Amino acid sequence: MHDFTYIGNELYCEKVSIRKIAQEVGTPVYIYSSNTLRNHYQVFDAAFSGIPHIVCFAVKANSNLSILKLFASEGGGADIVSGGELFRALKAGIDPQKIVFAGIGKTEDEISFALKSNILMFNVESPLELKKINEVAGNLALKARVALRVNPDIDPKTHPYISTGLKKSKFGIAIKNAIEEYQLASTLPNIEIVGIHKHIGSQITEVSPFVAAMERILDLVKKLKESGIDIKYIDAGGGLGIRYKDEEPPHPGELGKALLPLIKDAGCTLIFEPGRVLAGNAGILVTRVLYLKTGETKNFVIVDAGMNDLIRPSLYEAHHEIIPIEKREGSSFKADVVGPICESGDFLAKDRKVMKPEPGELLAVMSAGAYGFTMSSNYNSRPRVAEVMVEGDKYTVIRKRESYEDLIRGEE
Ligand code: LLP
Repeated sequence: MHDFTYIGNELYCEKVSIRKIAQEVGTPVYIYSSNTLRNHYQVFDAAFSGIPHIVCFAVKANSNLSILKLFASEGGGADIVSGGELFRALKAGIDPQKIVFAGIGKTEDEISFALKSNILMFNVESPLELKKINEVAGNLALKARVALRVNPDIDPKTHPYISTGLKKSKFGIAIKNAIEEYQLASTLPNIEIVGIHKHIGSQITEVSPFVAAMERILDLVKKLKESGIDIKYIDAGGGLGIRYKDEEPPHPGELGKALLPLIKDAGCTLIFEPGRVLAGNAGILVTRVLYLKTGETKNFVIVDAGMNDLIRPSLYEAHHEIIPIEKREGSSFKADVVGPICESGDFLAKDRKVMKPEPGELLAVMSAGAYGFTMSSNYNSRPRVAEVMVEGDKYTVIRKRESYEDLIRGEE
């Protein structure tokens, strides 16, 4: 479900014409629907309403302050992976007691910042990190609440670059060593064990990997309790997929139905870290056609957005639908939709059947609300684009387009 629909022949976000935004703000531009974001949050939250739970939005998916504020106003927390994300989450008014901190390379500074901010817990990824957190907490005369990130060795059946729960993955602690690591943690004076964490991958389109991973985690929780280690929070990570093309991912309600019976008697608070499922289909990237070009074997539609603005197609060969902002009569043709970057890998779509556009026409790259702007860069010295939030019949620029001056800020 999302709020990008044609009214007549023109694409709207809620009640605002995309063409109008593009004219006034320029292109390329990311446009988000506040209604879709809110709906997605509420549906996800409702799916787990049967038990105590916290929905911690994965800030890496979309870290714009206005979006974080929107989720905060719905009662959401944050899953962070850096000091920068912590800074953003706090700025957006997210309750520190709803912030969880993952990532395999937390620095001393980041650990100290998180401890002073009194976050809910660190999701710890290795024994040395655990010792480091204990040491930093000791220096601050604080106790660090931790969960150990356990690698349940479950295949999430998704793109290898976004699978994280397999044995060969750099993330987490092997499940077979988990009890030993928990025992080590229980001896450290400045560590308080509160939880367990897992995250097996992203864009998962089936319920079964979530169930299999949860069963392994619950088994471990039981064994830990028997050995005197109490677990208050089970953090199930993120990973629920969305429809980019023809995927049929489970509705959050289905995931809830499958997981709740397993967890309800564990006596724990469930944490989820959804990113893509909340933000992905709530945003689009709008780009303008600059030129058409016929190569020897291919047609090219050259647009003003490139891989620096949306890297998913280049990096993962990810599919994003591309649709016209104004539907009109015309012929379609097969083309590569490419950006202005000086790299052959700079494309938004390959061999795609699209309506043959005219230079100057606007196109919407769909499902770009997650891992779109956050993965954008200044490559080729291109200023990062503007972000806009629509609310009913109004829109607000929630991040200004960068200027050339912004590009050289801080350089000597
Ligand atoms: N929690 C942890 C510990 C994670 O590593 C991630 C994503 C999430 C939660 C959120 O996962 P989600 O619900 O969004 O699937 N750049 C890639 C996705 C990388 C995901 C990394 N971790 C992409 O554009 O597809």
